[in-house]
Amino acid sequence: VSSTAEHNGLQRQAAFRRHSVTLQCLLLTVALSAVAGLSLPGSNPTYMVGLEVFLWMCLGFFAFDLARQLWARSDTGQWREYLLSPLGLVDLLAVVPVPLAILCGAPSAGAWLMGTLWVLKLARFVPGVTLLGRVIALEARPLASVLVIFMIILVFASVCLFVLERGAQPERFGSLPMSFWWAVTTLTTTGYGDSVPVTPLGRLVASLVMICGLGVFGLWTGILATGFATEHRRQDFIRNWQLVTRVPLFSGLDPISAIEVARLLRRIDLAERTVVVRRGRPGDCMYFIAEGEVEVSIEPRPVKLGPGQFFGEIALLDGSPRTATVVTTRPTTLLMLGVPEFRSFAAVRPDIAELVDREAKKRLWQNKAKRENTSEHAEAE
Ligand code: CMP
Repeated sequence: VSSTAEHNGLQRQAAFRRHSVTLQCLLLTVALSAVAGLSLPGSNPTYMVGLEVFLWMCLGFFAFDLARQLWARSDTGQWREYLLSPLGLVDLLAVVPVPLAILCGAPSAGAWLMGTLWVLKLARFVPGVTLLGRVIALEARPLASVLVIFMIILVFASVCLFVLERGAQPERFGSLPMSFWWAVTTLTTTGYGDSVPVTPLGRLVASLVMICGLGVFGLWTGILATGFATEHRRQDFIRNWQLVTRVPLFSGLDPISAIEVARLLRRIDLAERTVVVRRGRPGDCMYFIAEGEVEVSIEPRPVKLGPGQFFGEIALLDGSPRTATVVTTRPTTLLMLGVPEFRSFAAVRPDIAELVDREAKKRLWQNKAKRENTSEHAEAE
């Protein structure tokens, strides 16, 4: 009962957090639209006053949120760390600049432009932003190399165009900074078209710069994409590894074997009342319950299996159809092990494979005994 109550409590907390994030995102979107609305020239003064009142209310909410965060950390003295963390700085930037600008005498419409800093608050709701930070930190060297290549091409292109075009177009390529502007817009493949080479040699160099631009951005994109995929896999692996350590069957494994097992298993997150395996269907994998609970539909009474237990081993071991239907009773995380992975694992740890085999035989025997019992009862009645 206590675990069900705990589970319900956790579910309520998760739902509350989801609603709170949705509401905060909505408020930020409306607040930013109001800041944009305030910059519209020649708007109705009553409408402007209304917008400003609304913006002060938003600012009050953000100030309250900041105070709440500081108050929660006041006992442990961690409020300083919070204020110096990226989250704390963003919260501070959401509250301080507008009143400060107004106190310094800035006109109200100008001061509220600082309200655009609220957009930074959105970053905390997107895990991808933290991931991007990690990818940039991990891939800093290759990214810096591409940046250096970019700078080299930029400088050479600027000097070449300055030398080749300044005679024909002094108003466009008359100085190095002017041709540098052309090189930036060309190399980034933006191409505003405000400065265009007209000499044949200038055009040749421009063609080469455009091709180089594509190459440089292709490299940049490739590095970031690979970095994202690697980081994603790494985080996935760490989570799998943590889950593997919770399964008693694997608890005796040395760290290297545990890493191997974590690589073999595939994590599946399932919602409540999801059918995982269906009786009579062929099956080629077994599952370990990392979190949550499943119900095995067997006669006369269903059996519940919880964290650390496994199922689906009977079909995996003898190739027979599934002997029972298994359904999740709450949000559940399973670790799936396919036949080839099970075989390679069994070759390394025959003792664990033996345990799985013994459990499969025990369950088959139990089911047979229960069935016989039920039919004897039915005949007696
Ligand atoms: P499998 O037959 O592959 O698919 C259904 C699974 O339900 C089965 O493997 C077992 O893992 C599980 N199962 C069957 N009978 C029992 C039981 N008596 N107790 C626990 N689990 C069972």
